[in-house]
Amino acid sequence: MAGFQPDGTRNLFGFREGAGNPDAADPRLMDEHVWVQPGDDEPTWCVGGSYQVVRLIRLAMPSWDAEPVEVQERVFGRSKDTGAPLGQVTEHADPGYARDPGGRRIALDAHIRRANPRTPDSEAHKILRRGHSYRMNPSDCGQIFVCYQRDVELGFATIQRRLAGEALEKYLLPFGGGYYFVLPGSDGDYVGKGLMSWNVR
Ligand code: HEM
Repeated sequence: MAGFQPDGTRNLFGFREGAGNPDAADPRLMDEHVWVQPGDDEPTWCVGGSYQVVRLIRLAMPSWDAEPVEVQERVFGRSKDTGAPLGQVTEHADPGYARDPGGRRIALDAHIRRANPRTPDSEAHKILRRGHSYRMNPSDCGQIFVCYQRDVELGFATIQRRLAGEALEKYLLPFGGGYYFVLPGSDGDYVGKGLMSWNVR
């Protein structure tokens, strides 16, 4: 299955992707949320690697395309045009959930609010998403959801549980995927070198 990005940053539902990702240029954030660290409950050859979760999700395009833009925006909690959280002007603006406890501006079951409620507790549950779209034929297209994290339970699994019952759910049909481990690599060394040395010791 070949993946693509329809216009760089938008998915097949027409919404911009990526705003809620932690900044991949910030090594502190990447160490905290993406790369396995020394002292984690893992063999040493895992340090510097990352858990990858892949999900194949078919999108119900006819139902989605039949919805007015306001409904689509309510489902995600973001503007379709700018990608800004509803009620804000810029894509990276804080959604301001504390000022909207009842969900009048951004619904309580909106995708971004469920995925990241931005409470002190949810800080530990960050993932780095790097998805693609796929199109097998006119009636089968969707999302190759891919994310990376230091710990699958703290990352994908917790977020996926929070998404159960979200407004987006009725437009999605997950049909495959898996959990993988991406071996560490560094300049001048081959990928997974630590695993090989560990094997022969
Ligand atoms: C086909 C399914 C999905 C679609 C179309 C989709 C689309 C989106 C869009 C448009 C955004 C807002 C922009 C952004 O922050 O990137 C978003 C945010 C997000 N999504 Fe998804 N998503 C899907 C599935 C998932 C799944 C399975 C997870 C994890 C279990 C997930 C986790 C997140 C997270 C963590 C955010 C950032 C929220 C924030 O920080 O405000 N998404 N998604």
